Formats: sequence, C-alpha cells, structure tokens
Amino acid sequence: MPELVSYKKHGAIGVITVNNPPVNALSPGVPEGIYESLLKGLSDPAVKAMVLTGGGRSFIAGADIKHLGQQKSPVAMKWRDEMERMEKPVVAAIHGFALGGGLESALCCHYRVAVPSAKVGLPEVLIGILPGGGGTQRLPRLVGPKTAMELIVSGRHVPAPEAKALGIVDEIVPENDLVGAAVAFAEKISGVRPLPRVGDKSDKLAEAKADPGMFDAMRKKIERRARNQVAPYRCIDAVEAAVSLPLEKGLAHERALFDELRQGEETGALKYVFYAEREAAKVPDVPRETKAQDIRSAAVIGAGTMGGGIAMCFANVGIPVKVLERDKETLDKGLAKVKRNYEISAKRGSMDPADISKRMALITPALSYEEVGDTDIVIEAVFENLDVKKEIFKKLDKAMKADAVLASNTSTLDIDAMAAVTSRPAQVLGTHFFSPANVMKLLEIVRGEKTGKETIATAVKLGKRLEKVVGVCGNCDGFLANRTRIPFKIEMMALVEEGSLPEQVDKVMYDFGYPMGPFAVGDLAGLDISYATRQRRAKEDPANFRADPISDALVEAGRLGQKSGAGYFLYKEGDRTPYPDPEVAEIIQSVSRQMGVKRRAIGDEEVLHRLLLSSVNEAAKILEEGIAYRSSDVDAMWINGFGFPRYRGGLMYWADHTLGVPKVRDTLHEWYGKYGGHWKPAKLIDDLANAGKAFSDV
Ligand SMILES: NC(=O)c1ccc[n+]([C@@H]2O[C@H](COP(=O)([O-])OP(=O)(O)OC[C@H]3O[C@@H](n4cnc5c(N)ncnc54)[C@H](O)[C@@H]3O)[C@@H](O)[C@H]2O)c1
Repeated sequence: MPELVSYKKHGAIGVITVNNPPVNALSPGVPEGIYESLLKGLSDPAVKAMVLTGGGRSFIAGADIKHLGQQKSPVAMKWRDEMERMEKPVVAAIHGFALGGGLESALCCHYRVAVPSAKVGLPEVLIGILPGGGGTQRLPRLVGPKTAMELIVSGRHVPAPEAKALGIVDEIVPENDLVGAAVAFAEKISGVRPLPRVGDKSDKLAEAKADPGMFDAMRKKIERRARNQVAPYRCIDAVEAAVSLPLEKGLAHERALFDELRQGEETGALKYVFYAEREAAKVPDVPRETKAQDIRSAAVIGAGTMGGGIAMCFANVGIPVKVLERDKETLDKGLAKVKRNYEISAKRGSMDPADISKRMALITPALSYEEVGDTDIVIEAVFENLDVKKEIFKKLDKAMKADAVLASNTSTLDIDAMAAVTSRPAQVLGTHFFSPANVMKLLEIVRGEKTGKETIATAVKLGKRLEKVVGVCGNCDGFLANRTRIPFKIEMMALVEEGSLPEQVDKVMYDFGYPMGPFAVGDLAGLDISYATRQRRAKEDPANFRADPISDALVEAGRLGQKSGAGYFLYKEGDRTPYPDPEVAEIIQSVSRQMGVKRRAIGDEEVLHRLLLSSVNEAAKILEEGIAYRSSDVDAMWINGFGFPRYRGGLMYWADHTLGVPKVRDTLHEWYGKYGGHWKPAKLIDDLANAGKAFSDV
C-alpha cells in the first residue's frame, strides 16, 4: 500500500504530500504522517522550508466525515498548532479543494499558494457543525471578522482568485506546475523572519472592535434563512470569540461549541442527508463499472418553461444543446426567455455578464428533426399529453443516431408507453427535472421496464455533470417524487375544507422550515394551470378524478394567484407577501357548507402530521412495490425537489426520528378508520413496526 503521507526533498525544500484518495481527507493516520514529515524537515539542517500538498486531484478536501466526532489521537489534536509555531516556514500548495480541516491546515502553514482553479472554504455549517480545527479563530485574523463570518456561516467555496483578493492565498501559481512553483516560492521566502503566523495577527480584528454591533447584525440577517437551526449561530458566536479572546482561549471556546454541535440532532440529520444524496444515484443492479456514455451534445424538444430551463442546464456546464420547437415564432419566444433569465442572473450578480453570450452561443435553435439527429441525448419537454409524446418518440426514433439516449421530461406519464413506439426501448428513460429546471437541484431519473443499464448509468453520469442531485426510481404514475407529493396536496385542501385556512397551513409549514407555505407556492405557480388540468381530467378520467371545489371557486372568482394579485392570498402591487384575505375565508366557508361539512378548529400538529404522514404512507407503498430503492431516496428527493428543510433530514428521516414507525402506524390506522381512502396503511409500515425496524432500514 502506498504511504498515506510521503516526504521528499527537492533541494533545500522538504515536500510533504498527502496520498489519501479520492480527496485526501484527514483520516486517522494522515495528521500523524504529516507531523512525522514535519519533524523530519525540522531536524534536517539541509532543509530550509517545507511545502505541504496533496497528491492526485486535490489538496486536503476536509475532515473525514466518517470519523467525525470520534476521539482524535494526541498528534491529530496538536499538529496544526505546532506547525504554526515551528521555526521553519511551511507553504501550503493548493489545487482542487482546501475545505474544512483542509483549509484549517493551510491556515496553520505560514504561506499559501494555489492554482487558479482551486477552491477554499469552511463548509462545516452545511453538516450542522462549525470548523473545529481553529478555522473560526484564524480566518477572522486573516480576512477580518465580517468576511470570515460571511464565509463560515454560508459555508461557500471561494475560488482561488477571490481567495487571493481576500488575502487567504498569498500567490496564484500556474495550473500545471503547482509543486515546482510552490518549491520556488518556498526557496524565495525561506529566509524571512519572523515567520508570518495567522494566529499572531490582530490588525484585522480591530474592525470588530470599532463595530461591535456586527455580530448581532449578522444574527439578524440570517434569522429567516437559519430559523430552527443552531450551527449558523454557533459559527457567529465562535467568530465573536476570536475578537474577544486571546487565540488559545478562543480555540478552547471553539472546541466547546464544536463538541456541543456534534452531538446535536441537526448534525445527525445533515450528515444523513449528505450520504442520502450520494446513495440516491446508485441503483442496486447497475454496478459502478457499468459503461456510461460521455454526453458531448444534447437536444431538447419544446422551448417552453421546462425545455428552456433544461437547455440552460446544458449550456451552464458547457454542453452544446439544440432546441426544437413547432414553429419559429414559439422558438424565438422560448430562446428570448432563456436570454432574459440569464440577464436577470447577471443583474443579480450570480453570473458574469460576459457569460451570457457564451452560454447563448451553446444553444442552437432547430425546427426539424434532421437537425437534432446527431446529438448524444434528446430530452422531450412538450405538453403533458401521451399521444403528443408518442408521436414525438416515433419521429425521434427515426431521426436520432443509433446510440443516442431518448429521454422524456414527463411528470407523470408512462415511460414504457413512449419506449414502446420506438425500436430501441433500452435507450429510453425519464429525466424528470423540477421547475425552474436551471435552479432546482433534483433530477429524477425514471427507469422504464426495458431501460438498459448503460442508459441509466449514462443518465446518472450526465445528471452529476449538470450538477444535479440525482435520484433513480422505477416507472409508475407520478414516479417517486410527485407520487409521494400528491397525498400532501390532497390533505392541504382537505384541511381547509374541514376547518383550517390557508394562512394556518402555510404558517405551520413555514415554521417547520419550508421556504414558503404550500398555498403561497400555489399562488406563485398560478391556480389556473391545475384548474385546466382538473377540467380535462374530469372529462377524460372521471373514475380517478378528485375534485377541488375550493380552488375551482377561487379561479372562477378571477383569483389566479400572484399574477392576478389574488389567489389563496391577497397581494399588493409590487409586493409578493401573501396577505390573508377575508374573502377567501368566506369562499372556503361557503364551499364547506355546500359540502355539508361542519367546520372545526384544527390544531397545528394535526396540520403538520396530516400533510406529512399521508406522504410517508405513499412513500412506503412505493418502497413496497420496489419502485423506490431505499427510504433515503425519498428524503434526497423531497429536500432537493420540494424544499423540505434539509436539517430535518427529509420526510422519512423526520418520521423515524420524531414519531417512530409504531406511532406512524397507529396514527395511520386511526385516520384510515376516520377518513378511509389514501390513509390505508402500507403493509410495509405494519411489517416494520412489528419487526421493530425503522424506515431507514429499508
Ligand atoms: N412546468 C413544470 O413545473 C414541470 C415540471 C416538471 C416536468 N414538467 C413536464 O415538462 C413538460 C413540459 O412542460 P412545460 O411546463 O415546459 O410546458 P410548456 O407548455 O411551457 O411548454 C411546452 C412546449 O412544447 C412545445 N411543443 C408542443 N408540441 C410540440 C411538438 N410537437 N414539437 C415541438 N415542440 C412542441 C410547445 O410549443 C411549448 O413551447 C411536460 O411534460 C410537463 O409535465 C413540467
């Protein structure tokens, strides 16, 4: 086995290289190896300085999350502080990522050089903890408490050029010769004394002494975003300690806060999600080594809401994409909207204006199937109508090159029915993006009965390239995500029919952690779209049709949502705040009367449990049918597709950890007795309860 850490002399410079693939995490053995190498360099009179770097594709990308919270060795506890105090300079040579414990290590080096593509950051908050290796004490000394707080509380990755501007990195070196450049840099500074030690710096801390209100201002700023969470606030507390305490005491304070967080519920949930998101892309019978095509070009059919967004996903990562429409006018309109979306992003500062033309240049308009035939994948995103989609798949089957993947973005329709009209069902699958496609992280990959393993592997690889959280599931009405979401939607209307009001339901869900309440989301999407779908379904499929008399009454009263200034809520000109509206309450009460329902007061807990448990039950049925592979896939999808609060671990994790399966079972049985219908408990839930198991065991 290769050594975890190697040490080699380049003239008078000792080069220490971490070799712990894939990302050189600080697993047990790594700190010890670095420390031993440092001692070699220190005791060798011929060595004037040292370089600390990572082998393979990265510097140290962070702590080893598997070992988080375990007792560290005495060396692991002290090596960084000792390195900072050493009498020979150490230069961190950074490529790939220096995140968390990786950046904390680099901050204890005396200098830092990085290649332009490198990224640095302290993302611990994203798994519910804080940087516990001195990061909250040293970063403020280097960049000032305000910037440090922004970086630590957001956990964002900072590109090397920005890190240089902030003073985190001393020099940007050529991409292709990191070690050579770092050795040259080390030679250049080897005689400088006293050594620059981040822990000794204090000038930047003065900023906070002049503005002591900055910490409370930050607490106020994150109030909405970080509600119900602890870690972001502890990050602020720790940075505040960097200003008020000397280094050693500050480090001890950081450690105490870290220890408190690492035992908390928040980090348990967030670490679980970290793994759930990785697992969701794995399919039990599709082995890792399955051949996956490299997608070099793509086509999208339909330039509507979804088609335009999907085209942006490709252009954003540099993959050329052709967009096909029925006629030139619709096509031009669709692409103009894409351009407008990019312009809005540039205006908001989330994109470089120079990139607009670069990305638009990757999007080519097309009006005939011949023009798209040579692309590696085509994604159909036309109206949600099976006959229309089948016609398109017939045309694609004729036009597309032999090995192309044929995908549909349908939200609910049968993938097998589309595959069946082609001569290559093994190359057909669903790639279900969420709206807006260029923003939402989830990509649900739907596997048809005949979809080939290579096709699945190709779509998964593409999804990752598009920077999506990928979840794979089988083919059923609504697939995994939307099918589990439907009972939630049915219950939210049932609650208002029985006695609740939109403002109560929305407040409960907002307080739970959703970015918006479900009724406000409905107003944002527009109530007329689902109204039209209901009108159609009532005619086409009356047996399975579920009426929604309240939403119908609102639409018929001209309340279409935000776009008409009123929906479930009232909106003021230029203000997106949803205001409760007595007129809505009247309409709701009158519908309840017509339905013969005697309205009652409904408690907040019942609101929450009815919405979520109806979906938990449906998810259990999907797991039972084998359409979903694991319970945690549901969680990854609800977090990334529907805004379920990440720090609650996802729908199924929440059920496991707040109620537990036996209580879920009892409640479902009680409500099935009362309401019937979709409350019929999944057999899986009874089985799990009887076996003393949790959803996470599935
Ligand atoms: N809107 C959403 O929130 C959402 C989310 C996920 C999935 N979807 C699914 O994505 C698909 C598209 O939805 P949308 O909201 O973008 O619809 P949309 O109405 O905004 O766009 C559909 C586009 O397809 C075009 N089109 C129709 N027939 C065509 C044909 N024969 N050839 C070429 N173009 C044709 C239309 O001109 C229109 O521009 C649907 O299957 C829908 O269920 C929608």
